Formats: sequence, C-alpha cells, structure tokens
Amino acid sequence: MKSIGSIFLSVAIAILMVACGGSGKKDKGKFAPPTKAKPLTYEEAVADWKNQKGLGPIKHVELGEIDPELAKKGEEIYVLKCTACHAPDKEKLGPAPTGIMERRTPEWIMNMILNPEEMAMKDPIGRGMLVKYNTVMANQGLTEEDARAVLEYFRTL
Ligand code: HEC
Repeated sequence: MKSIGSIFLSVAIAILMVACGGSGKKDKGKFAPPTKAKPLTYEEAVADWKNQKGLGPIKHVELGEIDPELAKKGEEIYVLKCTACHAPDKEKLGPAPTGIMERRTPEWIMNMILNPEEMAMKDPIGRGMLVKYNTVMANQGLTEEDARAVLEYFRTL
C-alpha cells in the first residue's frame, strides 16, 4: 500500500510539474507571431561574425581603398571622444580596435559607435561584451559621417 501511495504521489508531482512548467511556454508559442530563430549566444555570434551587422541605422557599408584623409579625420575624432575608454592597441575600459576588421563587420562597428545602448542590450555580441567589460559604452553622439571616418581610421590600425 505504501508503494502505491508513493507512486501516486510521484505521478501527481509529475503532472503538476508538466502543468506548471509547460503552460507559460506553450501559450507563448501559440499566440506569438511565427518567431524568428532563437537569438544566438555570444559564442555563436562571434563565430558567425561575418554575418553580424548589429542593430542600428547602418545596414550596408561599401569599403573601397583606404582614404587617408578620412582616416585622419577619424583619428582626430577618436582621440577626442573615445580614448577615455579605448587605447588603439591595448585594452582599457573597452577593447582595443586594432585588428577589429578581422572580427567585426563595418556595419556592426558603426552601429556599435552610433547605437551602443541597444547593442549592449540586444545584440548577441554586444551583450556578451557587456558581461565581459561590465561597462556600457557611452554614446558619444557621433554623426554617421563621423562614425564612418572612425571606421576608416580603424582600417589603418
Ligand atoms: C565610457 C567608456 C567608453 C567610451 C567613451 C567609448 N567606448 Fe567603445 N566601448 C566601451 C566598452 C566598455 C566596450 C565593450 C562593450 C561594452 O561593454 O558595452 C566598447 C566597445 C567598443 C567597440 C566594439 C569593439 C570590439 O572589439 O568589438 C567599438 C568599435 C567601440 N567601442 C568604439 C568606440 C568609439 C569609436 C568611441 C568614440 C566615439 C567609443 N567606443 C567610446 C567603452 C567606451
């Protein structure tokens, strides 16, 4: 009799767990519009960096030959507005931009400069970096033109 009682108890608990655990998720699945694939983890997004454009106003950047004038303008902006937290070639409060063209797309970089708050909250790479650096990058209020100049400077590093 004891054992039947405990079997009954485990069944009851199992039913309860399924009922409680499952209901929320199931409802979401039913009523949410057909959802996109689940967001990438930081590691997956880093591995897929060539397809990661970030979130923000920049959808497509065409890169030609490096324009030294534009790069120089970008360096000036960078020294003025970014070096509180970034050094060109070593970690400071944030990572160094040296070699960034080999790990981020131009679109992602410009979106990070122009839209750092949303990138830190919603972009898989941005979120992972926030965890690592534990500082939200400050929006320095650059125009798209300025951000493009800084990108050109990054290409020279
Ligand atoms: C308040 C400090 C701060 C300032 C000012 C700042 N950043 Fe950042 N930046 C960070 C931090 C911290 C990160 C790492 C991501 C995070 O934690 O949100 C970062 C990340 C980045 C990244 C991504 C780097 C990578 O390896 O993926 C780029 C690009 C960047 N910053 C560019 C800039 C530029 C350009 C400026 C100036 C216009 C600037 N940042 C100003 C703190 C700052």
